[in-house]
Amino acid sequence: MTNDFECLYVGNEMTEQTLRQQLLDTSRRMVELGLNRGTAGNASVRHGSDILITPSALPVAEMTERDLVLIDKEGKVLQGRKPSSEWRFHCDILNARPEIGAVLHMHSTFATTIACLGRDVPAVHYHIAIAGGDSIRCTPYTIFGEQNLSDLALEALRDRKACLLGNHGMIALGKDLDDALSVAQEVEYLCEIYWRALSVGEPKILTAQQMHEVKEKFVEYKKRD
Ligand code: 13P
Repeated sequence: MTNDFECLYVGNEMTEQTLRQQLLDTSRRMVELGLNRGTAGNASVRHGSDILITPSALPVAEMTERDLVLIDKEGKVLQGRKPSSEWRFHCDILNARPEIGAVLHMHSTFATTIACLGRDVPAVHYHIAIAGGDSIRCTPYTIFGEQNLSDLALEALRDRKACLLGNHGMIALGKDLDDALSVAQEVEYLCEIYWRALSVGEPKILTAQQMHEVKEKFVEYKKRD
């Protein structure tokens, strides 16, 4: 007995099955970690030249592996139901960034708080380097699910693994789903620290030289032996 996505990928079904499980697990983890709730947010992972993406308007609590949608790199549905309304930025990011394998979108509390202020996150803590640079950019507000949001996000993500979407939320990228989730958790932490620091005073921002030193030190730090 095979199911329809196994039929589509004869000989490769284990890989697709594993990716479906990982994508669902990551979507559930985002809810468990308080990064998303209800139908807010979405996630995608590269599958060869195609993309597996979460469905639109379905709460994660009700989602099964079979609800995940296979689309091609232009966003055409190959198998499954209606894909996330944000399929444009998922496709555009994965098409533009070959080093990236997974895209997560969240409406997490602290990232969205800063996004509602329309502020970039500056180098308020050295961990900002984990998101790829000395800042996390915030796009201007534009309505969800449209090409303009994708264009603005792609620009804000230049040389970065995360950005804020004005009055909306956050995007985090990674080489795989685990990497993207750890970037998302770091960004949420940084936004909370920034918000807390702003609440009681004027945060001290690290200089370009200090951040340059951090980036060099991180290279050594990541060598575990
Ligand atoms: P979808 O349910 O269509 O993925 O939309 C949720 C969302 O967060 C839109 O930005």
